[in-house]
Amino acid sequence: MILIIYAHPYPHHSHANRCMIEQAMTLPGVEVRSLYQLYPDFDIDIAAEQAALTRADLVIWQHPMQWYGVPPLLKLWIDKVLSHGWAYGKGGAALQKKSLMWAVTTGGGEHHFTLGDRPGFDTLAQPLQATALYCGMYWLPPFVIHNAFVCDDETLTRRASAYQQRLRDWQETQRG
Ligand SMILES: Cc1cc2nc3c(=O)[nH]c(=O)nc-3n(C[C@H](O)[C@H](O)[C@H](O)COP(=O)(O)O)c2cc1C
Repeated sequence: MILIIYAHPYPHHSHANRCMIEQAMTLPGVEVRSLYQLYPDFDIDIAAEQAALTRADLVIWQHPMQWYGVPPLLKLWIDKVLSHGWAYGKGGAALQKKSLMWAVTTGGGEHHFTLGDRPGFDTLAQPLQATALYCGMYWLPPFVIHNAFVCDDETLTRRASAYQQRLRDWQETQRG
């Protein structure tokens, strides 16, 4: 099962992420948990989130980039749900051998992350990659839509289809 942990602060105003979610949801075996809709008061149901993770083989953290990182509710989700003795530490093996993919949209173009002394995209991914590896998960190559703010509908649809294809390819590898 593919579990998409979706963190868009204003899901009804989204273009890029909404397009991606719509494409992903056409596939069987995909569950989406929209954190800002489930927990508008930031009161995360840790047991429900851990149960969903237990069902998953591939976990995706999908969100718009905000200030070069994750939106606050996803950060809180990571802090609360990936708990000691469950995700890491003594007896904490619940996520081992599951896969993790970072699916992110950015307002900036690809060059925005390589010009000047701004950190490159891979550097920004490191805290999430380290978190996944610390929990014994496999880190898959991230999926990115750059320029999400100014993308025309055709480009967005094409990129969202590529996202769906990534998920489909992963499902194929599981069958094989
Ligand atoms: C508070 C805030 C912070 C943002 N920070 C960044 C950033 O650091 N880098 C970037 O490329 N885009 C940044 N953006 C732009 C969003 O990533 C972009 O609007 C979003 O990916 C578009 O996706 P959507 O159509 O699903 O909302 C920021 C947007 C907001 C509202």
